[in-house]
Amino acid sequence: MIEKSAPCKIQFFSEQTNQLYSLMPTRRAPTMLISGIPMHRIKDTEPHTDTLEKIKTIAPITGYVLDTATGLGYTAIQAAQTAEHVTTIELDPAALEVARLNPWSQSLFENLKITQVIGDSSEEIKKFGANTFARIIHDPPMFNLAGDLYSGEFYRHLFRVLQPRGRLFHYIGDLESKSGRVVTKGVMRRLQETGFKRVSPRPAAFGVIAFK
Ligand SMILES: C[S@@+](CC[C@H](N)C(=O)[O-])C[C@H]1O[C@@H](n2cnc3c(N)ncnc32)[C@H](O)[C@@H]1O
Repeated sequence: MIEKSAPCKIQFFSEQTNQLYSLMPTRRAPTMLISGIPMHRIKDTEPHTDTLEKIKTIAPITGYVLDTATGLGYTAIQAAQTAEHVTTIELDPAALEVARLNPWSQSLFENLKITQVIGDSSEEIKKFGANTFARIIHDPPMFNLAGDLYSGEFYRHLFRVLQPRGRLFHYIGDLESKSGRVVTKGVMRRLQETGFKRVSPRPAAFGVIAFK
């Protein structure tokens, strides 16, 4: 007789951030919930398509890439398909525990082109030299959960570590929603004040792009 093991929920509580991280199935790639909030788009799409939309905005992905928020590693994994190297930063080890058990995240742990850093992006970014990265994927949690990652000070570091003519994708959320419009306006203004050029919305990817 073949014994079937009962399905079990993948979830971890983080004492570091006091958040519950769990894996939530969709019709394709799963998303991660942080205290109930999905970290990828799941309405009228699913996380894999969402990832491709983000990456497409700053294609071709070449050279050294910085991914400021690892999560399930989908953006890092996708970028590593064409990049020379990807450095990806995650604040909470609990998120990586979830990723370890997610079949869609396995390349994050296997692809030698990906370097994982555990830490706060707003601190870790200070350790990179100027003009290091050809592309930056900035996919933070929503504004009210991670304000530091939307600040002028953080953008100045993004600008510093980006190579001349390098490209940034900054995820924001639905640009057309009431709160999205307000956040987008502030993000675009601060990016321009920092020195970024050709700052423009990419509504299909729920974010904006900018060039150095
Ligand atoms: C929207 S998810 C990223 C999704 C990821 N790009 C992917 O493809 O799966 C945001 C992630 O950023 C992490 N995070 C939050 N604050 C951070 C910080 N200050 N530095 C680095 N990571 C952070 C969260 O724990 C979460 O895993």
